[in-house]
Amino acid sequence: MNMNKKTIEDVDLKGKKVFCRVDYNVPFDADMNITNDTRIVATKPTISYLLEQGAAVIIACHIGRPTEAREDKFSTKHLVKRVSEVMGVDVKWAPDCVGPEAEKAAADLKPGEILLLENLRYHKEEKKNDPEFAKQLAALADIAVNDAFGVSHRAHAANVGITSYLESVAGYLMAKEIKFIGQTLEAPQRPFVAIIGGAKVSDKIGVISNMIDKVDKIIIGGGMAHTFDAAKGLPIGNSICEKDKFEEALGQLKKAEEKGVQVVLPADLTIADKFAADANTQIVDVDKVPEGWEALDSGPKTCNLYVEALKGAKTVIWNGPMGVFEFDAFATGTLKVAEAVAEATEQGAISIVGGGDSIAALKKTGLADKISHISTGGGATLEFLEGKVLPGIAAIADK
Ligand code: 3PG
Repeated sequence: MNMNKKTIEDVDLKGKKVFCRVDYNVPFDADMNITNDTRIVATKPTISYLLEQGAAVIIACHIGRPTEAREDKFSTKHLVKRVSEVMGVDVKWAPDCVGPEAEKAAADLKPGEILLLENLRYHKEEKKNDPEFAKQLAALADIAVNDAFGVSHRAHAANVGITSYLESVAGYLMAKEIKFIGQTLEAPQRPFVAIIGGAKVSDKIGVISNMIDKVDKIIIGGGMAHTFDAAKGLPIGNSICEKDKFEEALGQLKKAEEKGVQVVLPADLTIADKFAADANTQIVDVDKVPEGWEALDSGPKTCNLYVEALKGAKTVIWNGPMGVFEFDAFATGTLKVAEAVAEATEQGAISIVGGGDSIAALKKTGLADKISHISTGGGATLEFLEGKVLPGIAAIADK
């Protein structure tokens, strides 16, 4: 995939109507208050630049996965207040993303103004990448800007189909994600260390495989490490495990050995007598997990292995927590990794953290601002790390 994309700095924006696809798929509480506005704040540099250049900005996005009925909880009207605050402009809102009302609102929009369209996914044609729907979206504007990295793994109308009718260039957020993830994977500074955690091997096997092709060391932690351990014949008690992934796990270990990639698996574990914040715990070596107990975090020897593996790293990619960090009693492994990644970054490494859980874990450690790049993608980041072509990026005009 060509990563050298045209950006908003490569085109004339003065007096233009810009169709700006963003990913404002943010979490809400029961009263429809936004509980994490990272994805909105992350697009501010792009939107501000478009406004400064004299463009009128039409923001298009989706929330959730609505079905036919226009469920109120998926309406973008719940974004208007926060987007206005973040952008410092009173955002206008259109109750649809195509049709007469959207067309009139777009036509009336003046340079320096922002219009937020209703949820693209209220039309099933968006996900179907329907050409006629894409054409209607394109008709609202003169140029398309894609700052929706989080949906880059989807080939939908507002990020892919629209490019048949309008030139599409990358916004600053998109350009930053491509630069950090894409270019780092292509030409990493070495030593390059990947840290892959999270509960399931099945979610990450593609990432592990692609990382082994590229890194010098791979740390495999969190719940998925127990599948690797069990596959090697170690006792894991009641720890989370995917028996049907043993062969794949052993295959990855063999591949790493053949490629001379060092694999760091746990040496000891913090185990619990139940899956609960107040469980009884003990620390045992990885080959001594008793029946009836389950591993919920790394042990101190394992934490030392992580710290050692990350010393001197020049590139670090981290995806997935190292234990059940949601419970304070089992957050140590994740915290130690966060500290070691922050330390490596301070010593000059490029560090990239991606995936919803890893970001939540990182935020809990309070070290988020020490990381070079925190990706705004969930599934998109995983597929990027798997080495897949992301259709949303591929559709942006090449330089
Ligand atoms: C996300 O939150 O990861 C993106 O907005 C994509 O959402 P989707 O998985 O519903 O396409």
